[in-house]
Amino acid sequence: MSMNSAFYPRLDLTNNGQTVVARGPCNWDVDDESAEIRNVTIYQGGYQGAVVASNPGPTKVRKDSDQDWQLDVHSSGRLTSGRALASALAVGRRTDGSTYEFSWPAEVQLVQPDMALDLKEIQGNIVAGFNKDFANLLFLALPDEPTQARLWLAEIVDQVATAEEVKQFNDLFRAVRARRGGREGVVEAAWMNLALTHEGLRKLGVDESELDQFPEEFREGMRKRKRIIGDVGDNDPDRWPSDLGKRTIHALMIVAADSLEDLDRETLYFTRQAASHGVSLVFQQDGMTRADAPGHDHFGFRDGISQPGIRGLAASSRPDDYGKDDSHQDVVAGGEFVVGYPRERPSGQDLAGDPLSPQPKWTKDGSYTVFRRLRQDVKGFRDFVIAEAAEQKMSVDLFEAKLVGRYRSGAPLALADNAADDPGTAKSDILNKDKINAFGYSTDPEGTQVPRAAHIRKAYPRDQQVSHSKLGERPRIVRRGIAYGKSFRHGNPPDSPYGANPNFPDDRGLLFVCYQRSIRDQFEFIQDQWVNQDSVPEDGDGVDPVASQASPRRTIRIPGARTDPVHLYRQWVTTTGGEYFFSPSISALKLLSGKKT
Ligand code: HEM
Repeated sequence: MSMNSAFYPRLDLTNNGQTVVARGPCNWDVDDESAEIRNVTIYQGGYQGAVVASNPGPTKVRKDSDQDWQLDVHSSGRLTSGRALASALAVGRRTDGSTYEFSWPAEVQLVQPDMALDLKEIQGNIVAGFNKDFANLLFLALPDEPTQARLWLAEIVDQVATAEEVKQFNDLFRAVRARRGGREGVVEAAWMNLALTHEGLRKLGVDESELDQFPEEFREGMRKRKRIIGDVGDNDPDRWPSDLGKRTIHALMIVAADSLEDLDRETLYFTRQAASHGVSLVFQQDGMTRADAPGHDHFGFRDGISQPGIRGLAASSRPDDYGKDDSHQDVVAGGEFVVGYPRERPSGQDLAGDPLSPQPKWTKDGSYTVFRRLRQDVKGFRDFVIAEAAEQKMSVDLFEAKLVGRYRSGAPLALADNAADDPGTAKSDILNKDKINAFGYSTDPEGTQVPRAAHIRKAYPRDQQVSHSKLGERPRIVRRGIAYGKSFRHGNPPDSPYGANPNFPDDRGLLFVCYQRSIRDQFEFIQDQWVNQDSVPEDGDGVDPVASQASPRRTIRIPGARTDPVHLYRQWVTTTGGEYFFSPSISALKLLSGKKT
């Protein structure tokens, strides 16, 4: 082994902080045969009152079989997450029988390892997405009699998809598609999952003392949070269509399938079953990927590209790199999306405390779910973009990319050097897996490439530096949205499914669904503290032109544009429905239904 041997920069704490799993790479020299690692010592807490863990070893490693070494190092005190000093001694043996010694000190980070997510317990679509072309969102009201509601739940609980099933299917789907040359429709599946509102939990007979333990925003529901998230004016729940803003909703069932026929069959099955137990359908919302532009939202942009990697689930060819997965997505702890697991700070340090606290124990493996029905005024957006691009002396492709942060093809503006034409439409590799997410904003502090209020930069500022400490937070959400409505076509009568009237009942837009550990810290933070704020991260940056709700000043600063700021005049995305839900684990659904687990 060579003199540049090292520790891996992050070492796991186990055994309640009394053991450090010390590990490092073996950097073998040509004439090495084996080595013994001895006297591994870890210090934490400075010279005075330092906690020391040590293991005299040795552990033997061989050049022909070992890429790294590992040793459990025990302490009589308790080490905690954070910085520590480590040292070790290696005795190397060469092929000629001679030996040599060297030692190395290093600064390391001690971390609480992530608990493996219990995929059999977590519902499908949270950490593994349904990824289907067709979906039905069924908004249900439960009967007043809890025993009747429980009977319904007991009957459907075994139909609820698990994360394990969905993940296995998605892995199989990818493998089959890769081997059979991209042919679609060879393996198919239909899925269902179920989320409940706070009132829905009450209808199932959860007692008041437990109901009180849920977070305030979930107890209140989306309508009551309208001032916080900006659902005022045109977005006001009083204006939401049908019964979405009026009747109390208790449950959201998402049914998803690969074809319309499969979706209809599954939806019929579940709606009949609901009706036979006194569960009524308040609102049914179809979602489907756009037939003329699959994977693109109604404004025309490819969606579903950036998603947080989930540690332990994301594919990574470097398991010791805690930062990125193979698609360059930042990897974060599963506890950011599922209740009951350690969470993560932006710095990578774990949040202290019981990850369940103060919620009922049965919330473990559940996830908080946000649904928003976001109407898109496609004609309004297109007319604006064409007129304003000319005004700002930019090509339409570039001006649109300045608003979103990606061109229509998904090509990241951060990597496109202000190209006038969408670089993803040319035969370029910018859309490849190793490029499409491989960017940050730290080299573009003023937003001369990607404006600081462009949609994807506002919604997730990546490595952007901010002066406000509170804004240093980088909350993440798992987005599982699907488009709804027919694509807009020029020349169609305004009041037709393809027409321009944004208030036509068969309108078009995005069924925004996201999963997280805390609606307040994640979805609400992004919507309220970043997206809707004109002065974040800096004064006058403007609002997110796509996702912002009400704001008296609808402007965006686009460095390089002719006017500063650029006026957005009005919003093209309007909230026309929404609610906060909780998606319990499979065992919790059984518990709530009174069924034996
Ligand atoms: C109709 C409304 C919306 C449209 C048309 C829209 C469209 C898009 C598009 C085209 C992307 C880029 C594709 C990608 O990176 O995956 C994107 C990314 C994203 N959107 Fe939206 N979005 C909408 C609403 C929202 C809302 C309400 C939020 C949250 C409050 C949100 C949060 C995000 C996030 C977090 C990303 C990924 C950013 C990144 O990781 O770089 N979006 N959206």
